[in-house]
Amino acid sequence: MIVPSAPHDIQTACRLLQEGQVIGLPTETVYGLAADAFQDKAVARIFEVKNRPTFNPLIIHVASLEDVADLVDISSKAQALMAKFWPGPLTLILPRKKECPISFLASGGLDTLAIRCPAHPLARKLIQTYGRPLAAPSANRSTSISPTSSQDVLASLGNQVPLILEGGPCKIGLESTILDLSDKEPVLLRPGSILKEDIESVIGSIALSQQNESSLIKAPGMMKRHYAPNRPLRLNVTDLKEGEALLGFGSSKNLPITLNLSKKADLTEAATNLFRMLRELDQDRFVGIAVMPIPMTGLGIAMNDRLQRAATPEEKFHTLMAGDPS
Ligand code: TXA
Ligand code: MG
Repeated sequence: MIVPSAPHDIQTACRLLQEGQVIGLPTETVYGLAADAFQDKAVARIFEVKNRPTFNPLIIHVASLEDVADLVDISSKAQALMAKFWPGPLTLILPRKKECPISFLASGGLDTLAIRCPAHPLARKLIQTYGRPLAAPSANRSTSISPTSSQDVLASLGNQVPLILEGGPCKIGLESTILDLSDKEPVLLRPGSILKEDIESVIGSIALSQQNESSLIKAPGMMKRHYAPNRPLRLNVTDLKEGEALLGFGSSKNLPITLNLSKKADLTEAATNLFRMLRELDQDRFVGIAVMPIPMTGLGIAMNDRLQRAATPEEKFHTLMAGDPS
């Protein structure tokens, strides 16, 4: 059931959260699947609905800076970043306080916590009214594409979610930037719309995650294959195979573009459209999705990161194109 965001719906949402249910929540990045972060059973329901492995921890959403003092240790770097970018699409990984009341299931048993203060007014209003932090991953089934509208949430999880708050299409369309501040050296775990250089302008130089699949999992959700459509996905294409849809960026002299992320090659516009268009092209009449090159600058870094995780490895590509669904 999707409902408009009138004040009484906030009340309904609060009642459901109190009962330990999960709800669809708009944020400026993507829609989240939210539950009361203090209740183990409610958090467990998130993992169940998403079919997500329980070792993959969730982001805790707060309404304001004041709300984090009881949850995590706030270093001076964290303080400076919160002052500059919150509310907004920056998630910080910080050491969990001993007395922190957040469900351990939400943080996957780790001694750190991922925290963010979303900028979407409806998300903030809900968290403020509810008075407790909300655990919320993106509201998609594990490994599929994140939802950027209430319709996307309805299509993938609607039958398991009692309420999806309508907050309009997501302004940013890509998940938040994740910065790990739990060790001496800050590490960028997930690129997003707050860029590496934006962060460095506040706290000095930061490292990029060296994570690979065999290394210790720091951000388990950053596993290599993620965010994937059902159809095989090819990147940086300069040719088109028969039956493929072409996701364009800018213009093409010789290839027929099926949907264009941004005709004027604007990265902000393209980021907003990326997940929606991947969903739109993920249909039976196409044998695959081919994506034109997207520059590795600014928001293009986060877009290429998501696309690479969604792309089909070469060896699997041929089987998929031949119609084998494995
Ligand atoms: O924009 C966003 O961040 C959206 C909206 C709904 O807020 N949320 C989101 O959540 O993208 P999710 O669960 O899809 O991605 C969270 C990522 C996962 O890769 C998870 O492994 C990582 O954050 N993460 C969570 N807690 C962590 C921790 N303590 N240490 C390292 N990584 C963590
Ligand atoms: Mg996700």
